[in-house]
Amino acid sequence: EPVVGEEQAVLTDAPNAPPAITRKTATKVVVHLEVKEVEGRLADGVRYTFWTFGGHVPGKFIRVREGDLVEMHLDNHPDNKMPHNIDLHAVNGQGGGAAASLTAPGHSSVFSFKATNPGLFVYHCATAPVAMHVANGMYGLILVEPKEGLPHADREYYVMQGDFYTKGANGEQGLQPFSMEKAIQEKPDYVVFNGSVGAMTGDKAITGNVGETVRLFIGDGGPNLTSSFHVIGQIFDSVYAEGNMSTPTKNVQTTMVPAGGSAIADFKLTVPGTFILVDHSLTRAFNKGALGMFKSVGPEDKLVYSGKTEDQVYLPEGAGVRVADAPAAVAPVAQNKAERIKAGEAVFANNCSACHQPNGAGVPDAFPPLAKSDYLKNDKAKIVQTVTGGLSGKLKVNGKAFDGVMPAWDLPDEDIANVLTYVYNSWGNGGGEVTPADVKAHRA
Ligand code: HEM
Ligand code: CU
Repeated sequence: EPVVGEEQAVLTDAPNAPPAITRKTATKVVVHLEVKEVEGRLADGVRYTFWTFGGHVPGKFIRVREGDLVEMHLDNHPDNKMPHNIDLHAVNGQGGGAAASLTAPGHSSVFSFKATNPGLFVYHCATAPVAMHVANGMYGLILVEPKEGLPHADREYYVMQGDFYTKGANGEQGLQPFSMEKAIQEKPDYVVFNGSVGAMTGDKAITGNVGETVRLFIGDGGPNLTSSFHVIGQIFDSVYAEGNMSTPTKNVQTTMVPAGGSAIADFKLTVPGTFILVDHSLTRAFNKGALGMFKSVGPEDKLVYSGKTEDQVYLPEGAGVRVADAPAAVAPVAQNKAERIKAGEAVFANNCSACHQPNGAGVPDAFPPLAKSDYLKNDKAKIVQTVTGGLSGKLKVNGKAFDGVMPAWDLPDEDIANVLTYVYNSWGNGGGEVTPADVKAHRA
């Protein structure tokens, strides 16, 4: 099929989906996704620094047609601190596009791909540490409509689940940093639809009228949990399981949406009411936030649903007892330089390699090298301060100029000691050791 013409993609924020595609031909679709690191509300009184595709979690919904040529622009806002990229599960190609889209703040990357396979696909950032970028909200959905289109639905909505890991316990107030430790243990403090607790409840509920057909485009960004997606009080008439569009499954109660996967659920509104969207792993819904509302408005049908006909005795379950948090796992303490280097390698991979690169070579004009870096010849105190306090402004490393921003690294003394010892003993640097005591003494 030839690609005819060109258009700008219509992008929407959840819970809205772009309009159905009525074109009968393939075209070139230009997509501009702007990455923004923004502070926002995760729950009442709880703030979080989200990393987003377009300013909100989940990222903008992208809708194209099978056969389209998609020209993807990934714009990393200059105020951002981190490099980012994009892996679209709708792409056949290295890293789903990630290999072509690593983008430093203030830069923009462009690549294109052919939407060969119809389906509802997840996209996400794949910059190391990947789980951290995804946990901070870097995921969204791209729908590749089949050539023949989808059956008509009166209303279409975009719902995406994600799990969040905060330093403080669920409900702890204020700006909460990301907890890598809890993410590794897969113990989220929050599990939410559309980026925050209550994003789809009360006056933010999604709505429809009795008699209408409703379609939910459901995604799960994870990074870790599989959703048992369910709408209390509705049977899905058709589910396109795992976003596969060939044959819908009929009459489904709960559909599994894997992390990095999707589903499309269609149902007809036959009665009025407030129907509750949940992850049916129910403590996630009732204790961690995975709860939304669908309000159906219109006349009752007592045959479909009678309402209360008798007063019966109801014995509720007891209120859940909160179990105190287990003490945080403590990483084994390195006993000598060799152990420090080994432990530091992992700290480097998780925190530094995204910018300074796994081989320490950096990225020209963006991130200075740590390999054979003359900056590292400064005294230990200065290096410890550079990492714990961050660095910005004009800088020369090995004769090359840099003018970027490195955020301050809020890591324990042990981790800073290990990562610096690893750096000192890698890629032709001069050797040496940094101990936790050094870090404690010189921390910025
Ligand atoms: C500069 C270490 C993570 C971006 C530096 C320097 C060191 C260093 C020693 C001084 C210049 C040099 O020797 O090349 C580390 C360590 C990290 C880390 C140990 C992990 C804990 C990162 C990350 C980023 C980054 C993840 C990107 C978000 C930068 C930038 C500069 C720099 C832009 C230059 C700042 C300027 O131009 O003033 N880093 N880095 N670093 N780093 Fe990192
Ligand atoms: Cu990212």
